[in-house]
Amino acid sequence: MIDLHCHLLPGVDDGPRTWEEALALGLRLAEEGVTLAVTTPHVFWARYPNPEPERIREGIAQLNRALEGRLRVLPGAEVRIVPELRAWAERMMCSPADGDRALLLNGTSYVLLEFPPEVIPPGVESFLFELLTAGIRPILAHPERNVALRYRPERLRRFVEQGCGVQVDAPSLLGDHGREAQRVAARWVEAGWVHAIASDAHGLRARPPKLRRAWEDIARTYGEAVARALFIENPKAIVEGAELSEVPAR
Ligand SMILES: [Fe+2]
Repeated sequence: MIDLHCHLLPGVDDGPRTWEEALALGLRLAEEGVTLAVTTPHVFWARYPNPEPERIREGIAQLNRALEGRLRVLPGAEVRIVPELRAWAERMMCSPADGDRALLLNGTSYVLLEFPPEVIPPGVESFLFELLTAGIRPILAHPERNVALRYRPERLRRFVEQGCGVQVDAPSLLGDHGREAQRVAARWVEAGWVHAIASDAHGLRARPPKLRRAWEDIARTYGEAVARALFIENPKAIVEGAELSEVPAR
């Protein structure tokens, strides 16, 4: 499996606190069958002023050395949609700095975007359209955890029609984020609006990875081909900067 969204670096966000915890989480992902993981530190200007590209790069190199090939860690970010992001998009179109490019997933044209938990940010359609026009492809992180989107799923369908990708958290499918998140996540997988499933793991105790269990559930319910598309093929396309495929499960 390829995990597109997890928090593996210590001391940069609410992920692992120490190198020992980071290594233990990396090894757990490997045990679950993950070979490649994109570490996606929160970029949320108010709380986590990541990325500091040099520090993130060094952290990934250190973690990869410690993992000794059992799991390979790639760079990325989980970017909260805030007004400052418009200035980032403008810089990306003309003269992106090192720190600007560090927001992309493995240096491709994909960016993992996170909505605030309660609302759909005003004007987000036009912002996503601007990104797509500039050649930046948004992947929407765990929309099933956004309260407003649960009640307005047609908004999510429109984002998908616009050209956005959708990533659901494996623990959501297992009920860890509540019944409503679980229900809509399954419904959206069935509708073919979901392109990838990721762990969004933060540690072994708080928010552990549950990719293996989610894989088994999806494979049992919708078949192995759907599981492969959601856990392997589309995540692989994203880290390679290739095109996404729709994955209708029904
Ligand atoms: Fe996350």
